Amino acid sequence: MLNLEENVSLKPYNTFGVEVQTRFFYKVTSTKKLITQLKSIAKLPLLILGGGSNLLLTKDFPGVTLLMANKGITILEEKNKTVRVEVQAGENWHDFVLWCLEQNYGGVENLALIPGSVGAAPIQNIGAYGVELSKVFYSCQAINLETLQEEIHTQDSCEFGYRSSIFKTHQKGKYLITSVTFELHKPPYQPLLTYGDLKSKFEKQNPSIQEVANGVIEVRKSKLPDPQLIGNGGSFFKNPVISKSNFLELKKIYNELPSFSVDKDQIKIPAAWLIDYLGYKGMRFGQVGIHENQALVLVNFGGARGAEILSLAKKIQKHVQAVFGINLEMEVNIL
Ligand code: EPU
Repeated sequence: MLNLEENVSLKPYNTFGVEVQTRFFYKVTSTKKLITQLKSIAKLPLLILGGGSNLLLTKDFPGVTLLMANKGITILEEKNKTVRVEVQAGENWHDFVLWCLEQNYGGVENLALIPGSVGAAPIQNIGAYGVELSKVFYSCQAINLETLQEEIHTQDSCEFGYRSSIFKTHQKGKYLITSVTFELHKPPYQPLLTYGDLKSKFEKQNPSIQEVANGVIEVRKSKLPDPQLIGNGGSFFKNPVISKSNFLELKKIYNELPSFSVDKDQIKIPAAWLIDYLGYKGMRFGQVGIHENQALVLVNFGGARGAEILSLAKKIQKHVQAVFGINLEMEVNIL
């Protein structure tokens, strides 16, 4: 039987800094006995927490919260150009990026400073500055919570998409990821510098992965609020993907509307621009608001309830729908 703590505040475990309680709480530091442990709590609802950085808690949780805190990085296999490493789910994502920089392993430098844990990273296929986790993902180990069997998921079976995978779509809630295996690049390796902010920073240079990571850290710090200082969950909405014809119609009215091509028929547009256009950037409503440097980030100035943050998100969704006819999908998980 698990030694469960009772009635624990989840405030320290969600980056929005929202106060809710979980009925039961358990910190997973080793996955050795996890299957047996899960059997003993099989009847209770389960909330699996990594860094709690993509989660908006709107009410108390009646079941068991498992905080994934298992650590360890193992080099599995080295080849001429690549190296395969297995990372336990409870490792902090940015610490793992720093480890890669120390080893001079390329592939995750553009993903520096993303909050959250390694185990949560495949769920929404974290991404930034032109790189997504799927680019370096090899496989992950997961416990199927229905059968309580261990499974290995590959690049193909995860069905990665933009901020999406099977773990966020048709298999949502079915798996507990225990470790992730990455395939990283050994030198010589060319970091990807195609994304706007990085392109302008490193034009005509040949930066090292450390320099790229430093650049990313600098840009992120200038635009995104540090959750230690001000509660937030990163981008609250996904960037909507619309048809090219719809985009061209909008462009006639909103000449400045930025865009990124997805394929020949589809265009991704920055949700931040739409929200910014409607004047929300930097606005404050009581204890909640929209970050002053990035309109896609909703913030908790302190003491806000999850429901207040959600209500602001819904207000923005409605307004964007009314003006642009675009449905903004929430990127953050609401519970
Ligand atoms: N923009 C505005 N107003 C703003 C911010 C941005 O108009 O307040 C416009 C600008 O035109 C800018 C464009 O939006 O060129 C894109 O902005 P930015 O480069 O800041 O990126 P984003 O599309 O808003 C995405 C990710 C971020 C990631 C950055 C950098 C999503 C939902 N968000 O944001 O991811 O860090 O690109 O790659 O895809 C996250 O997922 O939590 C996250 C922070």
